[in-house]
Amino acid sequence: TLHPVRSPPPTHRLSIKPRGGRGQLQSCAGCPSACVCSSSEADCGGRGLATLSTLSSLPPATTTLLLPNNRLSSLPTAAFTNLSSLQRLDLSNNYLDNLPAGLFAELTNLSHLSLRNNSLTALDRDLLQGLGSLRRLDLSLNGLGAVPLGLLEQQQGLTWLSLAGNRLQALERAAFEPLVNLQHLELGSNPWECDCNLRDFKHWMEWLIYRGGYVDAMECTLPKDLRGRDIRSVPVEMFNYCLQLEDENGTAVVRTETEVPDCVRQRYRPVSVRRAIGTVVIAGVVCGIVCIMMVAAAAYGCIYASLMAKYQRELKKRQPLMGDAEAEADPEEKQISSVA
Ligand SMILES: *[C@@H]1O[C@H](CO)[C@@H](O)[C@H](O)[C@H]1NC(C)=O
Ligand SMILES: *[C@@H]1O[C@H](CO)[C@@H](O)[C@H](O)[C@H]1NC(C)=O
Ligand SMILES: *[C@@H]1O[C@H](CO)[C@@H](O)[C@H](O)[C@H]1NC(C)=O
Repeated sequence: TLHPVRSPPPTHRLSIKPRGGRGQLQSCAGCPSACVCSSSEADCGGRGLATLSTLSSLPPATTTLLLPNNRLSSLPTAAFTNLSSLQRLDLSNNYLDNLPAGLFAELTNLSHLSLRNNSLTALDRDLLQGLGSLRRLDLSLNGLGAVPLGLLEQQQGLTWLSLAGNRLQALERAAFEPLVNLQHLELGSNPWECDCNLRDFKHWMEWLIYRGGYVDAMECTLPKDLRGRDIRSVPVEMFNYCLQLEDENGTAVVRTETEVPDCVRQRYRPVSVRRAIGTVVIAGVVCGIVCIMMVAAAAYGCIYASLMAKYQRELKKRQPLMGDAEAEADPEEKQISSVA
């Protein structure tokens, strides 16, 4: 059934500059010359395309549009208008760094969207608006630093999501709660910071796993003592201190007497561990002071003793005869008295 239709009327041909130059794909009726079209699929992958004005010329029955391995760095807002029959769209391995809100607004039947291996660092919270049928979304290997609240709001149908290989440090639970049908979640290769900011998401993830979902890995990068550990294996008690940091609104910070404002040092330690560390530190300081006092006393003793010895020697040198005479006189007297 795959009979490529590669011959649009010559007057309507799209121009694409040769490989190495800046490729261009322009609007026209029929299959773009840079693509290979079958009855339902348009394959425009690996053609060195750098720009894409619009693809509304694609055969109306096209359900799959493949644009991977090109050099696309941006897309016009109207790129996918009139392509509401699309079910699969592959934009992987390009250089996309910014996607306009509303780009996918007309793709109401799209179920698979891949943006894998691009240069996305941020997503507009309305980017997925209109994608009411999405089931599989691949955002792996980008530079994403956050998943904005609201991005996934209408994605109740999503079953597969990859965020692996980004720059995510934390995720908000509320951003993921709309994903009631999610079954597969990839989070690996991100610099996760396993602190209070991830606690609620950890709970949500455990619920996802509990109801049969799959999560690949979520290894902590920070704090240091959790580095390399999967956050799922970190006992929930480790996050109990978070409750102390939050009041009911979750905004104001309340500190107890035992906590000093230096959150960074004690952020990740339960109270008992902190107390144990405190005890060790105090004991160390006391021992140190005692040791210093003992050393000082010993040094004082030595100096005193040597001074006294020197003083005694000098005393002897000054009065040698008297001293010797006296010293030798005594034994003689004793001998005499004993003889007598
Ligand atoms: C989309 O289709 C409508 C009606 O078929 C047409 O008038 C309009 O120009 C098309 N839009 C684009 C961007 O091609
Ligand atoms: C979208 O999908 C539905 C159900 O598969 C289909 O009936 C409808 O025609 C599709 N819409 C377009 C624009 O292809
Ligand atoms: C990512 O895309 C670039 C450029 O298209 C390519 O050279 C590289 O091999 C891709 N990496 C992966 C892991 O697919």
